[in-house]
Amino acid sequence: MNHNKSDSQSLASKLQLRRQILAALSEPLRVLDLYSGAGEIWKALGKEFPIAAYTPVDVKPRLPGCIPLNVDARSVGAFDLARFNVIDLDSYGDCWEVWDTLSRRIQTRTAVFVTYGFQGKGSNWSLSYFLKTASGIPKSWHIPTNEKLLRFLGERFVVNSLTQFSTEKALYFQRPASGFGSAHHTPTDYYGFLISRPGARSQEA
Ligand SMILES: C[S@@+](CC[C@H](N)C(=O)[O-])C[C@H]1O[C@@H](n2cnc3c(N)ncnc32)[C@H](O)[C@@H]1O
Repeated sequence: MNHNKSDSQSLASKLQLRRQILAALSEPLRVLDLYSGAGEIWKALGKEFPIAAYTPVDVKPRLPGCIPLNVDARSVGAFDLARFNVIDLDSYGDCWEVWDTLSRRIQTRTAVFVTYGFQGKGSNWSLSYFLKTASGIPKSWHIPTNEKLLRFLGERFVVNSLTQFSTEKALYFQRPASGFGSAHHTPTDYYGFLISRPGARSQEA
């Protein structure tokens, strides 16, 4: 990973978000890290929180024990979510369809982290088919998209998906676009939730 100033800032934001949610979770962590990359986030958090189990997953495995998998809405159906109390979706892009599949299967008290990186810049922004459909926009429609619309639809999708849970804590940071040319960073939103099924008891490790 490229350690320029902006990457360090985004790592700092991701860590800050996770610390606040994990402090509220207050249990030994059993982490499913679905876009694990070099594992920087969880290497750092492992110095501060007890990690009882860590399962990294990445299409390009870079960590020992990493499960090589193309994470998508279908493949994530194979994970037994009862084994985890943390799910990390630190993708560069739009992983709302993956979150939709996972959210239907979460039964126990779980901390969830989502990095929503908007795809595109200039006049070439892209709205995923999934987010279009989830927003009631026909797939065939070509609609001009921009940072504001992608953020609005993402926020609305999150709020809708959380209605099926009791939400103990929810945090949200926005990072606007920054830089120019090759140093350009797409806008990115960071979400953290601590959720459980209404009426379900917390599962002890
Ligand atoms: C932002 S990086 C993750 C950084 C990581 N959380 C860390 O702390 O170092 C995103 C990762 O997602 C992986 N990735 C992208 N698309 C994927 C997919 N469909 N399935 C699995 N991994 C994917 C990339 O290989 C990359 O390592």
